[in-house]
Amino acid sequence: MPDTMIESRSPALCEVSARDTPEALLAARYRTEAAPAMAPWNTVLATMLAHRSVRAYTADPLPPNTIETMVAAAQSAATSSNLQTWSVVAVTDPAIKAVMAEVAGGQKHILQAPVLLVWLADLNRLATMGARAELPTEGLEYLETLFVGIIDAALAAQNAVLAAESLGLGTVYIGALRNDPDRVAATLKLPPRVMAVFGLCVGHPDPDVVSGVKPRLDQSVVLHRETYGEGAAPAEIAAYDAAMQDFQGEQRMQRIPWSRQALSRVVGAASLSGRDRIKSALERLGFRMR
Ligand SMILES: Cc1cc2nc3c(=O)[nH]c(=O)nc-3n(C[C@H](O)[C@H](O)[C@H](O)COP(=O)(O)O)c2cc1C
Repeated sequence: MPDTMIESRSPALCEVSARDTPEALLAARYRTEAAPAMAPWNTVLATMLAHRSVRAYTADPLPPNTIETMVAAAQSAATSSNLQTWSVVAVTDPAIKAVMAEVAGGQKHILQAPVLLVWLADLNRLATMGARAELPTEGLEYLETLFVGIIDAALAAQNAVLAAESLGLGTVYIGALRNDPDRVAATLKLPPRVMAVFGLCVGHPDPDVVSGVKPRLDQSVVLHRETYGEGAAPAEIAAYDAAMQDFQGEQRMQRIPWSRQALSRVVGAASLSGRDRIKSALERLGFRMR
């Protein structure tokens, strides 16, 4: 697709869907004067560019075999050394979802969504296999191996998200499950060396609540060529602050510059919602991080 001049700041730029043109989807994603150049378009790209987190769901259950389809997509993701150091718990029980919602600071969409998938970094499988084979598994005791599990879980989950969105379903990640890893582990009866990386609500988007496509930083800020260039160019950050405020206005949200909002999340330990204590929680869950 050639570079296309696109109209910015139209009132409901965010209300695009995967059925819209590449130009419309790129306009919603970037809100800049010129869209990035794209390779030939296809429906996978359309689904990706139409992504938005969904935080309001109807009461309808998922269509049959949706979880299995999402997990097949998840298992099709690349996985470090084919170790497959992840697992997922599909939660539909309202009582368990209620605990998860509480851990997550009362996020009501966890109760509303018919399914909460909890994605796990799972080093227990290899530990169990090692014990059974009477082989040492000391390599599990390094931070690197925990990274492997977390990366594997994230790649798998994102494949599942794309699968769900391609089926017309909505999702939202719930990183707030890390507010209290011990309670999540106890509630889901996780064995040692297994941690919940995040949850994922899955359901039918409530048609009465518009979840818009949220703009992203200009590509010039995130895409470096050969060596790292300017990662926080003031003009691009200011332009993004403006784009986000337009988006917030369209979504009837409080208009706050993105840079201010983002920085407020890293001011100090108190801004981490309890996750500043994650290292000790991981140790209690049986992880060693040499
Ligand atoms: C790892 C991760 C954890 C997240 N945790 C939460 C969460 O706890 N609650 C929530 O409402 N959204 C959560 N989100 C969604 C982000 O807020 C959202 O992806 C971001 O604002 C961009 O919006 P978009 O997904 O609509 O494009 C999370 C996203 C990721 C990737």
